[in-house]
Amino acid sequence: MKPVRLDYGNLMAPRVEGGVDPSLLADGLASAFSSAHAAVEARRERGELGFLDLPYATESVGRVRELADGFAQWFEDVVVLGIGGSGLGASSLKEALLGPFWNDRSAEERDHFPRLHVVDNPDPFTFRALLERVDPARTMFNVVSKSGATAETMAQYLVARGRVEEAVGPDMARGHFLFTTDPRRGALREIGEAEDIPMLSVPENVGGRFSVLSPVGLLPAAVCGVDPGALLTGAARMEERCRGDVLERNPAGLVATLLHHADRAQGRPIHVLMPYADRLRPVADWFQQLWGESLGKAHTLSGEPRPTGPTPLAAVGATDQHSLLQLLMEGPHDKVVVFVHVDDPGAGVPIPDRHPGIPALAYLAGRSLAELLAAERVATAEALRRAGRPNATLHLPRVGPEELGELFMLLEIATVYAGALYDVDPLDQPGVELGKQLTYGMLGRAGVEAPEIAAPDPAWVI
Ligand code: PA5
Repeated sequence: MKPVRLDYGNLMAPRVEGGVDPSLLADGLASAFSSAHAAVEARRERGELGFLDLPYATESVGRVRELADGFAQWFEDVVVLGIGGSGLGASSLKEALLGPFWNDRSAEERDHFPRLHVVDNPDPFTFRALLERVDPARTMFNVVSKSGATAETMAQYLVARGRVEEAVGPDMARGHFLFTTDPRRGALREIGEAEDIPMLSVPENVGGRFSVLSPVGLLPAAVCGVDPGALLTGAARMEERCRGDVLERNPAGLVATLLHHADRAQGRPIHVLMPYADRLRPVADWFQQLWGESLGKAHTLSGEPRPTGPTPLAAVGATDQHSLLQLLMEGPHDKVVVFVHVDDPGAGVPIPDRHPGIPALAYLAGRSLAELLAAERVATAEALRRAGRPNATLHLPRVGPEELGELFMLLEIATVYAGALYDVDPLDQPGVELGKQLTYGMLGRAGVEAPEIAAPDPAWVI
């Protein structure tokens, strides 16, 4: 099995103008990483980094398999209700491993596994459209919320519950729900226990955006036939590769250290993740949340006020060559691009020779779509290099569960190393609290005061 590889040559001088001096990598950056590594190891020993243990959680995988097998037999549609870290992992796994158009395939083409829908936003138009499409009597809702209290997810649960009860009656309705939540706390846990609804636990020390390899991501994947064990095998392999404190041998260490250096020492705080594969576009969205919510903080770990953090950006090649590339090539020198290349794209699609007399098309004849996409990725990386724009490439041998497990683990470990380098806590998100409280107050949640909201000033509205 070939591992996921990181090619960071295009971040290095003199290969790229203004790149990292190799002596710095061996010296200053290596020792900064060694301190970050020690800080992360200390947190691991204190039991704060539960995501690092997920690859070895065999008992929980057994329970995921058991529930997934049962639900897959009974239901035609599985709807995951979860937002942020509770939804993006399932979306990434769905798109990457089930491929495009899964829900449009016939039951035979899906090997009789259910259709899968991941709904995060409580946009009424989307939610109503979904409820009109699925038969509530043949649908299972996996409600995913670590806190068990997130307004968007809980509201969707209440609507879905009402719809299922109308269809099958209150007694049968609870068999259409599976809750994935905190092992002890929260409203979902309370309802699940009171009504004997099946539940899966997200370990207490695993936060939303680090939970894709917990039942949060594993159940939706497993219910559609993906082997959760394979995801964890890949994740374990990467976790082992990232244990040491020697920078040049630790892929997550290199991602974190080089991107942190690009931000703080080179003025490049915008970090673009750009897979050349449609199937990985949601992984780029997942990374955007992971990197942004973990590292964008107002205070250092010791409480000193210092707003900090890179801005992640999700893109996809070759599509975004036709939207972002001009900016990446000639705009401000404030970005680093990390490409993701898939060695075996899973399909070739030969290009036939239809117009041999037209040079603008003739060069494509006899090639394949896979060759075109691969050439475009190499050409874009080279164009950026020549323009003095640093970039790196993660190579995935293919888009399979093991490779996905490796990639998720790599980026999650890189995030906690980056937290240590930025001197922030990558596990919290205090900045989202005020908006939540204001929403609660506006909607009249018990115990929360109605807030004064600055009304629009007509003088400034045209
Ligand atoms: O990463 C995070 O912690 C957040 O994005 C959460 O996943 C998100 O807010 C949803 O929270 P919960 O799982 O509690 O519903």
